[in-house]
Amino acid sequence: MALTLLFSSLLLFCLNGVSSDSSYFTSLFTPGDSYFDTGNFLIMADPAIPEYNGNPPYGMTFFGRPTGRLCDGRVTVDFIAEQFGLPLLQASMLNSSDVSKGVNFAVGGATAIDIDFYERSKLVPYKLLNSSLTVQLGWFEELMPEICTAGRRYCFSNALFFVGEFGVKDYDLLWNAGKTEDEVRSYVPKVVKIIVMAVERLISEGAIYVVVPGNPPNGCSPIVLATRSSLSRMEDYDHIGCLRDINHVARYHNFVLREALDHLRGKYPHARIVFADFYNPIISILENPSHFGVADSDALRACCGGGGQYNWNTSAICGMPGVSACKDPTTYVSWDGVHYTEATYQYIANGWLYGPFADPPIMSAISYTREDLIKNITSNIRSSRIY
Ligand SMILES: *[C@@H]1O[C@H](CO)[C@@H](O)[C@H](O)[C@H]1NC(C)=O
Ligand SMILES: *[C@@H]1O[C@H](CO)[C@@H](O)[C@H](O)[C@H]1NC(C)=O
Ligand SMILES: *[C@@H]1O[C@H](CO)[C@@H](O)[C@H](O)[C@H]1NC(C)=O
Repeated sequence: MALTLLFSSLLLFCLNGVSSDSSYFTSLFTPGDSYFDTGNFLIMADPAIPEYNGNPPYGMTFFGRPTGRLCDGRVTVDFIAEQFGLPLLQASMLNSSDVSKGVNFAVGGATAIDIDFYERSKLVPYKLLNSSLTVQLGWFEELMPEICTAGRRYCFSNALFFVGEFGVKDYDLLWNAGKTEDEVRSYVPKVVKIIVMAVERLISEGAIYVVVPGNPPNGCSPIVLATRSSLSRMEDYDHIGCLRDINHVARYHNFVLREALDHLRGKYPHARIVFADFYNPIISILENPSHFGVADSDALRACCGGGGQYNWNTSAICGMPGVSACKDPTTYVSWDGVHYTEATYQYIANGWLYGPFADPPIMSAISYTREDLIKNITSNIRSSRIY
């Protein structure tokens, strides 16, 4: 017995030594939208598009210069990369020759549903970038020969994949087209199905660790609050001051997504599928702003913007000449009215890594497999009667 314990602790010691945080994952890949984008949108978008030009003060907190991130600094996936000692992911559109440690396929404004649908149904009065989830997966597959230079077998067994966030933009387009809550809600199963298909496609290509973020509470975004304020009545707002109908759909999306991921876990028991909660970390800050160093009166205001109740002004968006940022972005939840501050993303990323905002937390998804490994090895030892 004592010897078995000794063996187990030796094994634990060795396994921990080999698979420390900084060497557990050897690469990181992510499709996604503007919450994850590290530069694709600005490379793909027509520079004449005035919204989100990514000019200073973007990047003011961490990089000290604009990087193509729609944030004052790092985004969630950057904090995840740092945790595992990986480089901060480059945007795939930079066409870097070194993709062995990962690439970021996320594009600001990306939808889950293919853009053909929005074009055919004439729901959107402007041209969308062709960068939906399925298109991004196509880019990933095109790059596979460069990623897997030593062959496809085991290429992704130590890779960490994210799928998303997706859905916010789809629902946003539908809300802006004047759809009712029931109508927007009716698209949730379609959006979730596309996300689930993407997870399955990655698993079929060898992915084992897949993190799937849900939707944030978009009904609390300064842009949404400002642009819908003339449509909204007192009873449309919740106790925080967020729009109920928009958050209802976000929560419904998260509910349907979680159920679908539960089902996938049964179907692929070898995979480690994590649901990353993008909703409750933000709500927990908004419900108790002072606890996070955010003034009550700033909780629903953007740090960088051109005035108004929510500091969102369609004709004076962050990055435009003369539009300035707050002095200290760590005291704000929203950076530019649409995207979050680095401080918010860091809080979310920590909740995804260690809990409570992930099911299971990414770090425990890892140790679970480690325990499995130990159990397998110790049972092998027992069966070969070493003790
Ligand atoms: C990378 O390649 C794509 C497709 O060929 C192109 O559209 C894009 O502009 C390139 N990126 C840069 C930074 O040149
Ligand atoms: C978007 O790109 C995909 C893959 O490259 C292509 O099959 C599709 O036709 C394109 N859609 C539009 C609307 O351009
Ligand atoms: C919005 O920006 C425009 C252009 O800079 C400015 O004229 C207007 O006063 C701003 N509105 C508010 C509410 O600050």
